[in-house]
Amino acid sequence: MTITDSRVLRAELLSFDADPGEADVPAADSVRHHQDGALWIENGRIRAVDDYARLAPTLPEGISVIDHRDKLIVPGFIDSHVHYVQLEIMASYGRQLLDWLNDYTFPEELRFASREHAEALSEAFLDELLRVGTTTAQVFCSSHPVSVDAFFAASHRRGLCMLAGKVLMDRHAPEALCDDTLGGVRDSERLIGDWHGKGRLGYSLTPRFAPTSTRAQLDAAGALMRNDSSLWLQTHLAENTGELDWVAELFPGSRDYLAVYEQSGLVGPRSTFAHGIHLDQEMRGRLAERGANLAFCPSSNMFLGSGLFDRQAARETALNITYASDVGGGTDLSGLATLKAAYQVGQLRGQPLTAWQGFFGLTLGNARALSLDTRLGRLAPGMDADFVVLDTAATPLLARRSARCRTLGERLFALMMLGDDRAVHETWAAGRCQHRRDAA
Ligand code: GUN
Ligand code: ZN
Repeated sequence: MTITDSRVLRAELLSFDADPGEADVPAADSVRHHQDGALWIENGRIRAVDDYARLAPTLPEGISVIDHRDKLIVPGFIDSHVHYVQLEIMASYGRQLLDWLNDYTFPEELRFASREHAEALSEAFLDELLRVGTTTAQVFCSSHPVSVDAFFAASHRRGLCMLAGKVLMDRHAPEALCDDTLGGVRDSERLIGDWHGKGRLGYSLTPRFAPTSTRAQLDAAGALMRNDSSLWLQTHLAENTGELDWVAELFPGSRDYLAVYEQSGLVGPRSTFAHGIHLDQEMRGRLAERGANLAFCPSSNMFLGSGLFDRQAARETALNITYASDVGGGTDLSGLATLKAAYQVGQLRGQPLTAWQGFFGLTLGNARALSLDTRLGRLAPGMDADFVVLDTAATPLLARRSARCRTLGERLFALMMLGDDRAVHETWAAGRCQHRRDAA
């Protein structure tokens, strides 16, 4: 293979090899940090990572070296749960989950019957993700197959690693959004054939949530999962108390909300359940046993008044959690903003989030829980070259605050509390700079 692209970024580098734990000081060997580091990338992959002084003598003559010595490079952020089709209804006032769905969300999703609209919003959404340093996401499209085709095509053109799927819904939504039960599953099969495993794309089966699917549709999704263990699954679980009551009414034969999904075979190591606020330890234990993950969506949970996620309780049952924006319920696509909201929720629960936990979560933590860690989540040889170049002095205030920080932990914490898209100097994916703040 001829080498088409090889370059080095010289910068401060930070990446995690393991969970840093909950203490203020990260666990031994969990953090890899190079104050003056070199990240050598080649053909979309990371070739080498080291101190600049150690790597420099081994570099080929004439290789391009980008000098980012005043910047901090971390792996690309991952958003484990987000709805691209809700971009334009973010910040819609005054409703909680079920009314919010009926008043804002379903009418908006009807617009995605149009290919032109789906294409335009796919591009806009990916621009916004890259602007905030997110290089991979697990994405809900609408129930229209064309919304999935448009999203995957746009992601593929940019060489991005994205998981996505067509919403399955065969009841309790506007007629024009509803599948006929088996038709929705056949549409999913067609989309899996066209997109799953193409380039860096993966298909995530997407039953919206228990109230909008019949048992027959959930069972059919479960059968697809059983047939192909490489598929992902995403849905919602135990977000809102009104939703809980409704599920109990609709599925009287299930002992609790999670059992509805278990009975259809939807709970596995590649399953992401968004929210999971109103669960007991026994249910968390059942999720953990199956290796599933809960997507913690703090800005959404506060915006929709859903409740305060109990991160500690999840940890106690060794249940994987991931970090997610859940836009349009969420108020911000930024991973930094998600961490800020997670910290605030944590404070209200007496379980504040360290910056170490936060940055681990957005990168290797999310990658692992989504089974993407063989390619993503770390700055290490062989990994895909998806990373973010952060500027901890991006605004006058951030510069002031960062100058006062004595440790890396303090600087990361300031970044997660005060940083936004202005702190994202560049976003690289598939070895290419795909967003530069100055150029935006
Ligand atoms: N539950 C079912 N659908 C949705 C959705 O679109 N957003 C959120 N936050 N919760 C849901
Ligand atoms: Zn959601």
